Amino acid sequence: MPDVLNSIEDLRELARRRIPRALFDYIDRGSYDERTWHRNRDDLRAIELRQRVLVDLTGLSAGTTVLGERWDSPIAFAPTGLTGLFHRDGEIEAARAMLERRAPFCLSTMSICSLEEVHAAVRRPLWFQIYLMRDRAFNEALIARALAADCPALVVTVDLPLQGLRRRDPKNGLSVPPRFTPANAWEVLMRPRWLMGVMLGKRRTFGNLAAFFPQDGVTALSEWVGGQFDPSITWRDIEWVRARWPHKLVVKGLLEPDDARNAVAAGADAVIVSNHGGRQLDGATSTIAALPRVAAAVGDRCDVLFDGGITCGQDVFKALALGARGCFAGKAFLYGLAALGGRGVALAHAILTQELEITMALTGARRVAEIGSHRLVRR
Ligand SMILES: Cc1cc2nc3c(=O)[nH]c(=O)nc-3n(C[C@H](O)[C@H](O)[C@H](O)COP(=O)(O)O)c2cc1C
Repeated sequence: MPDVLNSIEDLRELARRRIPRALFDYIDRGSYDERTWHRNRDDLRAIELRQRVLVDLTGLSAGTTVLGERWDSPIAFAPTGLTGLFHRDGEIEAARAMLERRAPFCLSTMSICSLEEVHAAVRRPLWFQIYLMRDRAFNEALIARALAADCPALVVTVDLPLQGLRRRDPKNGLSVPPRFTPANAWEVLMRPRWLMGVMLGKRRTFGNLAAFFPQDGVTALSEWVGGQFDPSITWRDIEWVRARWPHKLVVKGLLEPDDARNAVAAGADAVIVSNHGGRQLDGATSTIAALPRVAAAVGDRCDVLFDGGITCGQDVFKALALGARGCFAGKAFLYGLAALGGRGVALAHAILTQELEITMALTGARRVAEIGSHRLVRR
């Protein structure tokens, strides 16, 4: 392992060594044949940037405004389930690190630390992400909890009415809480830091679902999830949420202009162009290919945000150039967390931001608002 960690790939490699394989694969991989997972990255990489020289770069800044909030850098932490299994108190560590970096952290419903625990620990507002579950009373309770925790934005994820199969999870025996078995005993024992931190820690199951998730034993994640998500949800359910949520409402997980228009009609303040990081519909278009059409469809009627495949600041620049106001990253931050806890999350954010700033400088953009498609090479 290099002494200096200065890329997301370095953090990924360290994460691979520090957490058990079932968890590393859960972070790292996509669904089915992983075509969309690859597409997200390959399509981003294929875009070329226009180098400009001798532009006055005094006062260069990657700061921006998203949904009326000032962000120091246009990169936020995407909602990710099971985050507290990658490092002890993972969500609290990650939220603190993002706060330090003055950028948002979005907590998933499927987190290990509960919303209340994270809120009490960081004492600042967090974004909160929900799935609409079969049990409407539960959804209502979650919205009430987000209100009580002063969340400025509620993100409703819509690309998971049923769960796409990530083939490695059942093969690796991924379960919540994590299990110590003869098959994984060796690698768990070889990762004492994780063993002491997570296996012997107090939080190892879904913190937000205490009344919901079976607490009496170990449950195969995929089986349980399969039974809870509601495949009958429609745009009317987004209106249902809108009627109960007075703050910013964000619809996450769409790729098509028509769906983006529907989201605006249902009252969304922002949409996130996302295919769940290539973890759901395999064969779906990459998010960077979908982004310009979605941005054109909604215009300035709502903020367009982006995620999928970001592994460097140049990727963030390309998404901003193609119409995103801000970006989220999932895997890039989770590698940092699994490698080094909160310090790794802050490092991942610093790496992405510095790479973005250098890219801005070398393409002649001093402000995020000056990043546009004219800075990309058209073929
Ligand atoms: C380990 C993991 C867990 C995730 N869990 C959730 C989740 O609970 N809710 C959600 O809306 N999206 C979830 N996502 C998707 C992310 O929010 C985001 O869309 C995706 O990670 C972006 O792609 P990237 O990982 O290539 O940056 C998860 C992603 C990962 C990698």
